[in-house]
Amino acid sequence: MSTIVLAYSGGLDTSVLLKRLLLEGNDVIALTADLGESDAATGDAAAAAIGAISAKARALGARDAVALDVRERFFHEYVLPAFAANVRYEGCYPLSAALSRPLIAALLVETARAYGADAVAHGCTGKGNDQVRIELGVRALDPNLTVRAPLRESPLSRPDAITFAAEHGIPIAQSAAKPYSIDANLWGRSIEAGVLEDPWVAPPEDAFGWTASPQDRPSTAEEIVVLFREGVPLVAGISGAPLLARLNALGGMHGIGRIDLIEDRVIGLKSRELYEAPAATILLAAREALERLVLTRDELRFKAGVDRKYGELVYDGLWHSPLRAAFDAFNAVSSVRLSGEVRVRLYQGSATVVGVRSPFALYDEGLATYGAGDRFDHHAADGFIHLAGLPLDRLAQVAAVTAG
Ligand code: ARG
Repeated sequence: MSTIVLAYSGGLDTSVLLKRLLLEGNDVIALTADLGESDAATGDAAAAAIGAISAKARALGARDAVALDVRERFFHEYVLPAFAANVRYEGCYPLSAALSRPLIAALLVETARAYGADAVAHGCTGKGNDQVRIELGVRALDPNLTVRAPLRESPLSRPDAITFAAEHGIPIAQSAAKPYSIDANLWGRSIEAGVLEDPWVAPPEDAFGWTASPQDRPSTAEEIVVLFREGVPLVAGISGAPLLARLNALGGMHGIGRIDLIEDRVIGLKSRELYEAPAATILLAAREALERLVLTRDELRFKAGVDRKYGELVYDGLWHSPLRAAFDAFNAVSSVRLSGEVRVRLYQGSATVVGVRSPFALYDEGLATYGAGDRFDHHAADGFIHLAGLPLDRLAQVAAVTAG
């Protein structure tokens, strides 16, 4: 018998797990975290929800239930560093689920320490990325904890879960017959399974919960200004978790941030996923525009490689790793001049940058202009091309000799 901290969502699967772990004779502490999954759609309706989830865990027999509002922590410790790396796995997915799992791992470890637990447990299946991210996170933070993955030990079909729930007094919500598997937090919502498993099937409108369908979007464009202070975004004075909630609502209304991706999972499978990430889409577009204005060409070229690797590392579950910390140090330096403003136009599913300015801009209109007041020294290009062409002259001469 052990004391186990279970990552508990309140849904059917984790409720069945809670009961199963109790039936094995363990003490269970249920841990529920609010990462803002329902804020985005409804404004600010989330807070009451996690209290109810904890009450359900206690009613099912958990020794204790911990409900944590970690929205600001998620924003500052996970989203912001990843944002500095312009994270988009395989060029598309802003890593919403992937960024939440290392935080959940940290919360499991912290709660286990607070309760003197010897094990933690999660409800991930053996087929996904999330098991890898949670378990590598726990291992990195406390290798002495045992990690239980009951759904991997013995997979549970939906009908079996429903039967088990009925037998053990677990309330079954309407959503037990859900057509998709959904995960959401302030940085985005992911939708998989059901009819989406056929990649030829177009995304049905009922898969989307945050973003308006084309016919429901406003017919006029709206413009916002994203202000950056050393890489940290603000809109109309709002930052942090409330900014993401606000932009998810606003961008969602304009249908922004829908992504349909065949992606490569850590465990070797390809899978088809839909995402909705209005705030992430708007903010990433704004940041990239500002970076192009203020970073040097060399910084941009090098950073593109760092950014790609950063995204892969987060996807692969290596958040709690020294390479990520080293990348954060690099990004902290490259964010020092990332202050300025970006105009973003929201319209019919697109977030388009239409203007950018910064006191640190390396763009110089006097040098760039083709109009009056051009300060660029056109003759200097002569010498530049002469020197840049020297190796090519020589190569052509050698080719002529060796061919002859
Ligand atoms: N495929 C995405 C990822 O690996 C989303 C996973 C969503 N998780 C879930 N349990 N539905 O990051």
